[in-house]
Amino acid sequence: MRTQIAVIGLGYIGLPLSLALCERGETVIGVDVDERKVNELRAGVTHVMEPYRGESLESILRRHLESARFTATTSLAEAAERADTFIVTVGLPVAGDVVDKTLLLACVNDLGRALSPGDLVLIRSTLVPGMMEGEIVPRLASTSGLVPGRDFHVAYAPERVAEGRAMEEFQTLDVVVAGLTDACADRAMAVLARLTDGRLHKTSLRVAELSKVVENAQRDVNIALAHELKVVAEQHGVDVYELIRMANTHPRVHLLEPNIGVGGFCIPNAYAYLAASLTSEEHIPLFSLARQINLTAPHRAARQLDEALRQIGKRLSGARVALLGLGMKDGSNDIRQSPAIHFAEILAERGAAVTAFDPTVDPYFPFQAPSLEDCLANADAVAVAAWQAEFDTAPWPDLLARARQPLAVLDLKRRLVPSLKQAGWQIRGDSHLPYIAVSAPHVSATRDCAVEMVP
Ligand SMILES: NC(=O)c1ccc[n+]([C@@H]2O[C@H](COP(=O)([O-])OP(=O)(O)OC[C@H]3O[C@@H](n4cnc5c(N)ncnc54)[C@H](O)[C@@H]3O)[C@@H](O)[C@H]2O)c1
Repeated sequence: MRTQIAVIGLGYIGLPLSLALCERGETVIGVDVDERKVNELRAGVTHVMEPYRGESLESILRRHLESARFTATTSLAEAAERADTFIVTVGLPVAGDVVDKTLLLACVNDLGRALSPGDLVLIRSTLVPGMMEGEIVPRLASTSGLVPGRDFHVAYAPERVAEGRAMEEFQTLDVVVAGLTDACADRAMAVLARLTDGRLHKTSLRVAELSKVVENAQRDVNIALAHELKVVAEQHGVDVYELIRMANTHPRVHLLEPNIGVGGFCIPNAYAYLAASLTSEEHIPLFSLARQINLTAPHRAARQLDEALRQIGKRLSGARVALLGLGMKDGSNDIRQSPAIHFAEILAERGAAVTAFDPTVDPYFPFQAPSLEDCLANADAVAVAAWQAEFDTAPWPDLLARARQPLAVLDLKRRLVPSLKQAGWQIRGDSHLPYIAVSAPHVSATRDCAVEMVP
């Protein structure tokens, strides 16, 4: 019987999407070319962190494996025997500024060969605008030998959920939908209505493609603005978070908070997708500039850490730096284009010896330490790049006492210094700045590295 949904690509989006569909009572067959991933999923193992209603994604996965509502395979042909709806979540990686379409187009070619009359292909990947009509539909037509829009349905509904909240947002967010024909759009909307309680907004393929890229590009620009506000606030000697909080009391102002940069698979890729879709020589400098500003944020953080080290008579070159958090944002174990990793590379290039700890990121880099204790031992400096839930309950004053004293701190999340202050540590530096020097209460000030109590 062919009434199942096949989700193609079981990554950060495809897996939670499959399980959100299962939560809604659908039966899903997941397809991925990565054999190891499929075997792990079959064994109930995933590294995607997605707590949903107090349950881990792994536990949700196991429930749906047991009930056989979810199965996983590497074989598209096997999925095609059971499914009549194919939802594609294979993405377009970007290297430098170059968009790599190989994986998605290979997937589309294979899918075309597996299609039967009456099927629905619903693409949910973020695309270079124009790809649906320019590349995807023609390939589906040629490899299937069928006529798209007549023999089978093709639609596009860009995915806009955030990693970490995907399970919930699949079921609550509005979705933009477009079909090759009206009937294609209606068929896709009928499937999506089974998944989300949000509204479905029907539009053209090109607008749907552009709207997704523009959503991400807008966030890139807003984050760049936040990074510039940080420079402004620091020069004025005020706390940037306080500044943003105050400005946001205006009902039409919605400033974001600065970070160490911006990472992941969506926001950093938006400009490359948009630029690759433009045919004229006309430039879009705002998006390009925002990208450059966000890419330089980790460099600025490295300069600030160097400044904090200078306050204690040391320099970045030769310093031992303990880096906390490697995920691309707080609460994420996704290290794709993570600014924290970029930051670690910059520190290493500038001669620092980096050890990093992130409880959510599997051992991958040689500089990863097995524990917070190991990471902090004998450090000259500590920098917080991404905050993980496990850090909430860590005994920071005790842990940081393992580092050398005095200690340079780049507290980008404003979590460490408050707990150190509370524990009576001596703080040196301007309290509105994220970089500061600290000493444990028992360490006395020396001439070289004087530490003062900040009232
Ligand atoms: N990650 C996010 O937060 C997010 C949010 C919204 C939209 N998106 C978009 O969703 C899409 C997927 O992103 P992701 O983060 O899940 O990527 P991902 O890399 O985590 O997952 C993609 C999966 O597709 C698999 N794959 C590659 N080729 C395949 C093929 N031919 N057949 C079957 N599987 C194949 C890969 O093995 C991988 O598991 C992208 O277009 C992305 O831009 C991502």
